[in-house]
Amino acid sequence: MKKYLVIGNPINHSLSPKLHNYWIKKSNLDAIYEKLEVNSDKLEELVDKVKEKKLCGLNVTVPFKKNIIPYLDKLSKEASETQSVNTICLDGNKTVGHNTDIIGFELSIKKFDFDLKNKKVFIVGAGGVVPSLIYSLNKMNVSEIFICNRTLRKAEELKILFKNLTIINWGEIPEFDMIINATSVGLNKDEILDINFSNLKSNKIFYDVIYNPQETNFLKTGKNLGNKIINGKMMFIYQASAAFDLWHNKKPEINDDVINLLDK
Ligand code: ATR
Repeated sequence: MKKYLVIGNPINHSLSPKLHNYWIKKSNLDAIYEKLEVNSDKLEELVDKVKEKKLCGLNVTVPFKKNIIPYLDKLSKEASETQSVNTICLDGNKTVGHNTDIIGFELSIKKFDFDLKNKKVFIVGAGGVVPSLIYSLNKMNVSEIFICNRTLRKAEELKILFKNLTIINWGEIPEFDMIINATSVGLNKDEILDINFSNLKSNKIFYDVIYNPQETNFLKTGKNLGNKIINGKMMFIYQASAAFDLWHNKKPEINDDVINLLDK
């Protein structure tokens, strides 16, 4: 039986096993997908297991998407340009790091029929997923990307990788068409971002990368102000489907059953 793992810390909240095992069963594959909480001293050993074919693939989540890179033989173009890996597979005898968060985000925007060309986007946060969001937004030809982060230094580090970012002080709000919460604030249901949105006009998009809970306080605020809201569920499903395709050479079906599976 082929074995796949998602690794991270914490990992308990991850719905990846539920989704992958659902698709594995639907596709009649002899495989299993599990989750494992690890510390960074285990990363090399786990990549070695892929090389030794004891594991057939790895998903990598917070906080290891960058830290895993030194242990890999090769990176895809997207993984290299974002310095972020969320999917690992074996190509010949080489371990390869891929980034499927980029296509996950892009497909989630398309699914909701939004055209971000020439639009202004404001990203709040500078954690692990943000390089993928920026890469994807640039691919979609947005006109401007603003970013703010509680810890300014991390936003400045991102600007080294992506020169077209405009850094905003925490608490200030630029003119934007779409705002993305890419912080971890909201993972616990009662948490609130300390940014005052009350003077915003409507007709914007509020996007939260968080998918569990389904409606964070950030999205509730956006909705109450008359904006469209999207949570991170479709991005999560699309990144997983791209990983599934890389490992099993098969595009899994994304239908209402799959979408509802994650709400149970
Ligand atoms: P990592 O930092 O390991 O990549 P992450 O979950 O991907 O982890 O990112 C967490 C993001 O949420 C960061 O942007 C973090 O801001 P800091 O860089 O200042 O830590 C942000 N974050 C977490 N708690 C926050 C809070 N209470 N207020 C504002 N931002 C917060």
